[in-house]
This record gives sequence, structure tokens and C-alpha cells, in this order.
Amino acid sequence: MNVAANVEGKHILITGGGSGIGAASARILSARGAIVGIADVNEDNAITLSEEIIAAGGKAYAISVDVTEPTQVKAMFDSALSHNEKIDVIINNAGIDHFPAPLTEVDDAMFMKNIQVNLAGVWYCMKNALKHMTATGGGHIINIASVAGLRSAPMISAYSASKHGVIGLTKSAAVEYARANIRINAVCPSFVDTPMVQGVLSKLDERGQKGLIAANPMKRLGKPDEIANAIAWLCSDESSFMTGQSVVLDGGMLA
Ligand SMILES: NC(=O)c1ccc[n+]([C@@H]2O[C@H](COP(=O)([O-])OP(=O)(O)OC[C@H]3O[C@@H](n4cnc5c(N)ncnc54)[C@H](O)[C@@H]3O)[C@@H](O)[C@H]2O)c1
Repeated sequence: MNVAANVEGKHILITGGGSGIGAASARILSARGAIVGIADVNEDNAITLSEEIIAAGGKAYAISVDVTEPTQVKAMFDSALSHNEKIDVIINNAGIDHFPAPLTEVDDAMFMKNIQVNLAGVWYCMKNALKHMTATGGGHIINIASVAGLRSAPMISAYSASKHGVIGLTKSAAVEYARANIRINAVCPSFVDTPMVQGVLSKLDERGQKGLIAANPMKRLGKPDEIANAIAWLCSDESSFMTGQSVVLDGGMLA
């Protein structure tokens, strides 16, 4: 008996799917029978991962997209729909961070970049997804936010502002579209061992590294699969009564 969350046959589009949490999700979802679209600004990573999944017997394809460009986001949807006529789930996962610093030392361009990728990118993807899902009778939008979207996140103010915005979009749109059979939920990890966090760790001194890793009661980084497994459950129909919520995966940080 297969007891894992069932996503067999679902068509799932993942932005930022070429690395970290998105790539772990693509591997787990495809291993469980989903068709995964791996959309990323890093086209090489997206292609390499889709080839890996296909070689393992799964169904995947790659799309090059910059989620900050509305025309590219529209083209990403057109391309995804050329592979399968319906998108069941989109995982809005593409994101960037910025190096920890007091607010006055984060330059304006970095603030705008975090808002553009992490918030406006989700906005453009949600707009397209909602139009498509309204027309096709339903679907599920999963926005990858962060614990930094739920509480204070000192030294990463621009990132935190963008992720609070994602939670706001998630909750408001979930209520707007509940009767259209479209669910919208968020996932809020704390620090997870991905290239994004390794990039920050590599620039911190030993004390800073230890502090980041010990930021939760489990005193360790999350693993990408620990986030992807929760995402897989959300993608399944087992989460069918859930909308407008944030799934927190944080080693106990917010407890
Ligand atoms: N790693 C963590 O600790 C952590 C914690 C909380 C939330 N998150 C969130 O999880 C998501 C995934 O992060 P990750 O840790 O796997 O990082 P990652 O850097 O490994 O992956 C992010 C992916 O997004 C892609 N991307 C960046 N800008 C893009 C753009 N403009 N258009 C399309 N793709 C773009 C990158 O190429 C990359 O493949 C992000 O939204 C991040 O904010 C991560």
C-alpha cells in the first residue's frame, strides 16, 4: 500500500525549481507520479534536473523564466500548458535573499530586488494561475514564504517585508477564490540547507554561522526534503479543506 501523499498524474509547475527546496520538491513529486514543470531563471539547472527526472522514469520538462517579467511569466504558463492542458498546482518558490545587515545598510536596489522577485514575482504567477484555474474549475497555489513573513527577522528587513507580503496575498486571495475551488496556502520554513543559505553561511564568521544554525530549538538546518515532503502533502487532495494557511516548518523556532 502506498501511504505517501498521492499526487499521481497531477501537473505541478514549480518556479525556482532548479535548486534547493524547489528541486527537492520536483524530485519527490515526480517520484510519486506527478508531471513537474521546472521553471527557473537558471535555465541550465532546470534542464539538468528535468533530464535527471526523465532518466529516473519520471515526467518533467524545463522552462526558462524570470518571474519579475510579466511577459515571461505569461509565456511560462503558455509553455506549461503545451505539455498538459491543465495546471493542477503551482508552487511559487522562486526567491532571493540579501546579506544580513541593519536596514540603513541595505541599499535601495536590494530592497527593490527582493520585492520584485519574492513578492511581485508571486503576484504575476498568481494572476496567471488564478485566471487559468478559474477557467478550468479549480486548482491549488502554494506560495513559499518564510518564518520571516510571520515574525520579526532582524537584519533581513527587505526579505522579511517581501515574505510578509506573500502571506498577505495568500490569505486575501484564498478568501476571494475559495468558492472557485481554488486553494491558496503558504509554506514557511526557517533556515534550510540550500544554496541560498550556504551562500549566507559562507560570508559569515564562525560565530555568525553557529548562531544561524542554532536559531531554532532543534539546533540544525532543515533539509530540503523536510520541506518538500510537506509541500507534497499540500499538493495532494489530502489537504483539501485547507486554504489561506501557512504551514510552518521551523525546527520549533516559532513555538
Ligand atoms: N533556504 C531557506 O532557509 C529558506 C527559508 C525560508 C524560505 N525560503 C524560500 O524558499 C524558496 C526557495 O529557496 P531555496 O533556499 O531553495 O533557494 P535556492 O537559491 O536554492 O533556489 C532559489 C531558486 O530560485 C531561482 N530564482 C531566483 N530568482 C529568480 C527569478 N527572478 N525568476 C525565476 N527563478 C528565480 C534561482 O535560480 C534558484 O533556482 C525561496 O522563496 C526562499 O525565500 C528558503
